[in-house]
Amino acid sequence: MRPRVGVIGAGVYGTTVLQAFSWAQRCRQIELAAVAEIDEDVLTKQAERFSVQGYADYRDMLQQEDLDAVAIVTPDHLHKEMALNCADSGIHMMVQKPLDVTTAGASAMVQAARDADVLLYVDFHKRFDPGHVQLRRDVSKGKLGRIQYGYVWMEDKIVVPSVWFRDWAQHSSPVWFLGVHFFDLLQWILGTKPVRVTATGVKDKLIAMGIDTYDSIQAKIEYANGAHFSVDCSWILPESFPSIVNQGIRMVGSQGIWEVDSQDRGVFYAVEEDAGSVVPNYYANMEREDPEGAAYPTGYVIDSMLWFLQLVSRLKDGKGLADIAGLYPSGEEALVSTRLCEGIHESLAAENAILFDW
Ligand SMILES: NC(=O)c1ccc[n+]([C@@H]2O[C@H](COP(=O)([O-])OP(=O)(O)OC[C@H]3O[C@@H](n4cnc5c(N)ncnc54)[C@H](O)[C@@H]3O)[C@@H](O)[C@H]2O)c1
Repeated sequence: MRPRVGVIGAGVYGTTVLQAFSWAQRCRQIELAAVAEIDEDVLTKQAERFSVQGYADYRDMLQQEDLDAVAIVTPDHLHKEMALNCADSGIHMMVQKPLDVTTAGASAMVQAARDADVLLYVDFHKRFDPGHVQLRRDVSKGKLGRIQYGYVWMEDKIVVPSVWFRDWAQHSSPVWFLGVHFFDLLQWILGTKPVRVTATGVKDKLIAMGIDTYDSIQAKIEYANGAHFSVDCSWILPESFPSIVNQGIRMVGSQGIWEVDSQDRGVFYAVEEDAGSVVPNYYANMEREDPEGAAYPTGYVIDSMLWFLQLVSRLKDGKGLADIAGLYPSGEEALVSTRLCEGIHESLAAENAILFDW
């Protein structure tokens, strides 16, 4: 029997999840059973596009569909309520990052999944980017020596907070929405936790547009192994920037240096029908066609989602959570990146910098 799977939230990223799950269904790995979405127009359109049962209230979907697993792809601050209900119904779940926007909320989700003995997979797809996979291998083998310092950056175009999710950007921030990706990645690569953080941020452009959140945040993180990392996160890049996201990581150790530019993968194009040139990241997500002409998605974004489904299949085939421990980005691990985001906001609020009185 194939696992029956549902999706909660069918907006921008929910569409990507539905495309990945739909491909898994075509490959006869799962049954994509249903989608839940509160926006009536979006629900009608997506239920028809993916040929699934639609629900306006996700709780009805959980009750009526006999699901094995669900993907939670709603705004950041809404994940918790849905995860607690999934756990209550004994349903495995893949939750979008960030797990929650408070450590207390994320802890409650982890505890609920543990109590119900269900899988809590956090969709940190940066762990699936080939550049990051190789970087981690080299760090693990000690090729870079002792990691001393590094830099990560993740910056979105302003269309993301001002148009794509204008309704809920004030509940998130460049750190909760973007930085959390690299905080998880750093923990995964370094194999250690942050012990200290300080941060500064700017509120200006989005406030002027009526959206009460930070434009940009810079943080300095110290890890338990003594490595220091600088972080730049923002979501105010201009429309003319040639990618939706600018991102990358570099690190320097006593015996080596590694850099991954996840924005510029060496591909660019400019065509008259587009306003400017484009730098696409085909490593992340790309639509291809199988020999019969059917479209299917590929890339590290999709790999993470398909891996979740693989794990759900193993659990349905009789394996237990102990059998797959350590094989995926877990809720327990996500507590660290959640606490780090929270700590950065605490540092911003405390304005605990040394002031120079010239
Ligand atoms: N992994 C990534 O790279 C990545 C990228 C983008 C977004 N995300 C994450 O995915 C999540 C969704 O982001 P998005 O960009 O798709 O946002 P979005 O606003 O485009 O979509 C969210 C959808 O959830 C729906 N929704 C809200 N409350 C609901 C409810 N109670 N029941 C059912 N549906 C409900 C909304 O109507 C909307 O259609 C966020 O947590 C975001 O951080 C992850």
